[in-house]
Amino acid sequence: MGFESELKAYAERVESKLRELLPPVEDDATLLHAAMRYATLGNGKRLRPGLAMACAEAVGGSSEDALVAGCAIELVHCFSLIHDDLPAIDNDDLRRGQPTVHRKFDEATAILAGDALFALSFELMGRCHPDPVRSLQCVQILARASGVTGLVGGEMLDIWAEGKQVDADTLVVIHQRKTSALFQAACEVGATTGGGTPAQIQSLGSFGSLLGLAFQIADDVLNETGAPDQLGKAAGSDRLREKTTYPALFGLEGAMNEGRKVAEKAQEHLKGFENAYFLAETLQFSLFRDR
Ligand code: IPE
Ligand code: IPE
Ligand code: MG
Ligand code: MG
Repeated sequence: MGFESELKAYAERVESKLRELLPPVEDDATLLHAAMRYATLGNGKRLRPGLAMACAEAVGGSSEDALVAGCAIELVHCFSLIHDDLPAIDNDDLRRGQPTVHRKFDEATAILAGDALFALSFELMGRCHPDPVRSLQCVQILARASGVTGLVGGEMLDIWAEGKQVDADTLVVIHQRKTSALFQAACEVGATTGGGTPAQIQSLGSFGSLLGLAFQIADDVLNETGAPDQLGKAAGSDRLREKTTYPALFGLEGAMNEGRKVAEKAQEHLKGFENAYFLAETLQFSLFRDR
């Protein structure tokens, strides 16, 4: 199987598990459950759960070991997208090729649907594996990746940096927090649920973190070069909001060169894993993607 069909196979399993795990629309007199399902189901690439499952396999476990943990990571990702798109943050109207949650519903529903997805992700992570010790380790990984030194802290820095002259070191910190932290966590929960050794979990976490940086560099480049119908979200918006990005600091070609250097470092961390085809391909895809 090639990379695209492997990703599709993982994504289909993730999609059907998420359908089962999300609260049903019928149980809810409000639009909360509908908004949670709208934000989560459908067009996502599912790279983070795919990485979690592939990391479980890379340490000798099965992809099934990491399915629920991968879904929990995806729910945090979907929560972050809802809030990132809000008028108070990036003020975007399009996500995954459809209106953003606050556009489709309203702002209050979007905020609360995000909150509920965030809570659900921890509930699921706490019972992601039959071994409670592994589940608890995964909860800690997710909490660290989500909080002040992870996603939420990164989003705060991203807003703080708007309109400011930010140097490359600071930009790396922003990208590491807002994006790499969750990719790192995806790899770590995958390796943990798969029964990896502490050294294996650490190597795959370092791989995930660098992959996440390459992924965000590509995202910065696509915001300059892509089109909304291909990306499923706005293009040109970073410039409008005066965000510091890789292309803003290094130019388009320079940004891709930085991305290549990061990807080379990421690849180093896969040495010693036999079953790492999907991981290596995801790294290449993350940097050279067009969506
Ligand atoms: C978008 O992530 C947000 C960033 C971290 C740049 P993805 O490109 O993985 O989004 P989906 O899940 O495929 O929509
Ligand atoms: C990506 O933020 C990271 C999170 C959503 C936490 P961006 O604002 O850079 O990504 P897009 O372009 O909206 O997907
Ligand atoms: Mg943003
Ligand atoms: Mg955004």
